[in-house]
Amino acid sequence: MSEKNEILVQVDHLKKYFPVKGVKGPGVQAVEDVSLFIRRGETLGLVGESGCGKTTLGRTILQLYNPTSGRIVYGGETIFQGDDPWPVGEDGEKHHAKVAKGKQVNMLPYRRKMQIIFQDPSASLDPRMTVGEIIGEALDIHKLCASKQERTDRIKELLGMVGLNTEHANRYPHEFSGGQQQRVGIARALAVKPEFIVCDEPISALDVSIQSQVVNMLEDMQQDLGLTYLFIAHDLSVVRHISTRIGVMYLGSLVELAESYELNKNPLHPYTKTLLSAVPVPDPEVSRQRQRIVLEGDIPSPMNPPRGCRFHTRCPYATDKCKEAAPEFKEHAPGHWAACHLLG
Ligand SMILES: Nc1ncnc2c1ncn2[C@@H]1O[C@H](COP(=O)(O)OP(=O)(O)OP(=O)(O)O)[C@@H](O)[C@H]1O
Ligand code: SF4
Ligand SMILES: [Mg+2]
Repeated sequence: MSEKNEILVQVDHLKKYFPVKGVKGPGVQAVEDVSLFIRRGETLGLVGESGCGKTTLGRTILQLYNPTSGRIVYGGETIFQGDDPWPVGEDGEKHHAKVAKGKQVNMLPYRRKMQIIFQDPSASLDPRMTVGEIIGEALDIHKLCASKQERTDRIKELLGMVGLNTEHANRYPHEFSGGQQQRVGIARALAVKPEFIVCDEPISALDVSIQSQVVNMLEDMQQDLGLTYLFIAHDLSVVRHISTRIGVMYLGSLVELAESYELNKNPLHPYTKTLLSAVPVPDPEVSRQRQRIVLEGDIPSPMNPPRGCRFHTRCPYATDKCKEAAPEFKEHAPGHWAACHLLG
């Protein structure tokens, strides 16, 4: 039995930089100093504008991308640890090669436990393989079936679990609708009996009419199989109903994290307040009263992020201090973290 409130995934000061050929220094600073934990059985929602680093964070936790520095702990085991102050003037690619070398633990056992459901189901399924082959491949890699019969039975079982038919096993991805393709992607992720799944905007490419079906299915699976989710979405309206807690990212950094109810009721960070002001409210009276906050300016480039608080170029409350010093990500109320100088 797992302990209640057991922490399954923990990330400390994680950074992921993408080197850019011919450019000295860090390159694209896609994930900057992110710390969070995910309890077993919970859904941690992760929101933020396009390009703020949500996918990169999810993939780096799974080590589908080599982390640049920080620590990742899974089930109490450290699966990455690297403390590499960026050498001034060193070429980015050389530095990355050095960091990647010797830092890898054997990820194969963790690959089974940690899975991902991709944003674009059609791009994530090999068009030359049948659905049965796609799901079967996952079973084969981890040697999960002792016989051919067991493998066939398991593929049928998985198709049933995601609401597809046995006969679908012999068809190719292009023969399916977007929603059905995503069901195949979910079956592939479930095939290896994972514990933790990064759901990377699993519904944003789907028709609105079927989005809630897929979300409901993911919630049912979580209940039945005791799964833990990192659920990525562009906006709060998608994640606020399904998440236990929600993290908000801006330009590579986590700016706020709290229980879902608390974040919606009592947002602390100016950027979270902006996001919340854009969420439609069904009650027309409340909707009229709520003031929509529109941010000025564009999101800066993660290749050249602003000094100090990364949000200062767009924050209506920015002071001189914000331009110089990055605010610490601190716990301001029990379980409610935020990074803003205004909060003390
Ligand atoms: N493989 C890569 N090589 C170089 N830069 C990358 C790579 N992947 C992502 N980036 C850059 O890192 C930053 C974060 O991208 P990421 O895809 O993680 O954002 P996101 O929040 O998932 O966006 P979206 O909501 O559009 O999916 C972006 O500036 C992006 O261009
Ligand atoms: S630290 Fe300053 S710039 Fe950043 S969010 Fe707070 S007030 Fe705005
Ligand atoms: Mg993404």
